[in-house]
Amino acid sequence: MALKSRHLLGIEDLAPETILEILQTAVSLREISQRRIKKVPTLRGRTVINAFFEPSTRTRSSFEIAAKRMGADTINFSTATSSIGKGESLKDTGLTLLAMRPDVIIVRHPQAGAPAYLSRYCTRTHIINGGDGVHAHPTQALLDAMTILDHRESLEGLTVAIVGDISHSRVARSNALLLTRMGAHVRVCGPPTLIPIGFEEYGVDVTYDLPEALREADVVMMLRTQWERQRNEVLFPSIREYFRLYGLDAAKMKGACKDAIIMHPGPINRGVEIDPKLADGPHSVILDQVSNGVALRMALLYLILGEQQETEES
Ligand code: CP
Repeated sequence: MALKSRHLLGIEDLAPETILEILQTAVSLREISQRRIKKVPTLRGRTVINAFFEPSTRTRSSFEIAAKRMGADTINFSTATSSIGKGESLKDTGLTLLAMRPDVIIVRHPQAGAPAYLSRYCTRTHIINGGDGVHAHPTQALLDAMTILDHRESLEGLTVAIVGDISHSRVARSNALLLTRMGAHVRVCGPPTLIPIGFEEYGVDVTYDLPEALREADVVMMLRTQWERQRNEVLFPSIREYFRLYGLDAAKMKGACKDAIIMHPGPINRGVEIDPKLADGPHSVILDQVSNGVALRMALLYLILGEQQETEES
């Protein structure tokens, strides 16, 4: 696989053909998770560290499951159980983990740029960005693309509406980059207070009108309102008002394509950005996104380490 560097820090690192290679590999590895014995020896002897400086359910556990299903050893590092609480810096924490010679470190961090910062100290280890601040979440965008392709033949020419708290969303940024790079038409929608000025630079259309964003959309991607990043700012009058204008319900969905899919990276705020009936309804692929997250991350670890392993052993 051709990465611009040995790390995956953002979608910018991936050419369209590399994105397709990752997605195709993920589809071919998906059947391993259907087997009774869900494990192959491909990455035997490799070590993957999950270094999570911020909470996660999906990304952390799916990277751990992915690494284990590919035969690698995994170690989970979290802020709550580490020496960060004793004042150890990001640099010293990173150097300490690197001294144990892991093959890959998955980094999630509240500060944008933290995975890139750690990558400067790596000579052998690969860094994968597991979500950094409001900057990027490349593996989420890849698993989202994989899920869309389970329902459409190509990303090219699709209309995708990304709706909600765009300002605080690394998922929106990575999806905007990936989907436009693959030829999709992306509409971004939310209250003016939750869309950064200049977001059009991502090659997307910006609208504050949800029916306009949903019109004939193939894919509706709802985003969580990220209270933890809003620093007590009042960015909309009330949850009731937010749901009335920007929450997805059955009436608003009528504007989208009949066979449109509803996506959400999770965790969901039910009744805030999405009516629970839609989250659990027939158009929802939210849990498929989670399942695909395992296969996608197996593919990434394989393409980063497995091919190299085969070369080293031959
Ligand atoms: N989608 C996502 O990143 O979820 P987690 O925060 O649970 O990992």
